[in-house]
Amino acid sequence: MVKITGIEFRNPTILASGIMGTTGASLVRMTNSGAGAVVTKSIGPEPKIGHPNPSMVKLDCGFLNAMGLPNPSYADFVNEIKIAKEGADVPVIASIFGGNAEEFVRVAEGLADAKPDAFELNVSCPHAEGYGATIGTDSCMVEAITAAVCDAVDVPVWVKLTPNVTDIKSIGKAAENGGAAAVVAINTLRGMAIDINSGYPILGNRFGGLSGSAVKPVAIKCVYDLYEALDIPVIGVGGVSSWEDAVEMIMAGASAVQIGSAVHEGVEVFADIATGIEQFLQNNGYAGVEDITGLAHEV
Ligand code: DHB
Repeated sequence: MVKITGIEFRNPTILASGIMGTTGASLVRMTNSGAGAVVTKSIGPEPKIGHPNPSMVKLDCGFLNAMGLPNPSYADFVNEIKIAKEGADVPVIASIFGGNAEEFVRVAEGLADAKPDAFELNVSCPHAEGYGATIGTDSCMVEAITAAVCDAVDVPVWVKLTPNVTDIKSIGKAAENGGAAAVVAINTLRGMAIDINSGYPILGNRFGGLSGSAVKPVAIKCVYDLYEALDIPVIGVGGVSSWEDAVEMIMAGASAVQIGSAVHEGVEVFADIATGIEQFLQNNGYAGVEDITGLAHEV
């Protein structure tokens, strides 16, 4: 059992936003597979079709995607969160996005009726102009949006950060100053793939966000830096596919880990990683995840 931002999780594995999070039923399925908590696909103020296909490509080292924040709008998603809350015995976190503070607040207030356990602000989509690509690199906007949502809701607000910045600590600090209960790091790293036979960029949007094993060392460093710079918890995400990866992320400074790309390998990943962490803690005489959070800073 871990407690982060006042919320109890049966284990430190959390379904990351963007995977299996578009319906209440799929979120419940992830909780039945052992996830300690689940995060929805990002929901915005208006229905959005997203970028043209292909919107996802599998690479040797991970996935490149540019979905374009497709979603039915908060008005049409309230019921999915209600279904997830009814069927899940673990916390359900609503990931939201908007173009400015007013839109973020409208989405958060619109979803509040479904009683998500926390909000995760997606200020970090790498390729949606007017949304994450511009917001998450601007500490003033991050602080203002975080403060506005914190004012509007009575549950913890997490802020998901982009690695596509020069100094992630200053953006994390802005989230903390705005009242965030935790930061989540990292969202995807901007990337591109080109088909050498046609010369065309493969993704419909030409470029997208890289996830999976390629980004793990980037995520470890970001979590390490944020742990040092901030007083609020850091939730680690980026390329975690084994319990060893999770322990590494926790030792960098994470209080819990989110899992995204690895879910494509099988939904057992949550139970496997949670069990592996538990065994590692026991074998080494640690009482809990807190005992090894940030351990790499002490040696
Ligand atoms: C999308 C959003 C993200 O935050 C991300 O990292 C990748 C893709 C999207 O919906 O396009």
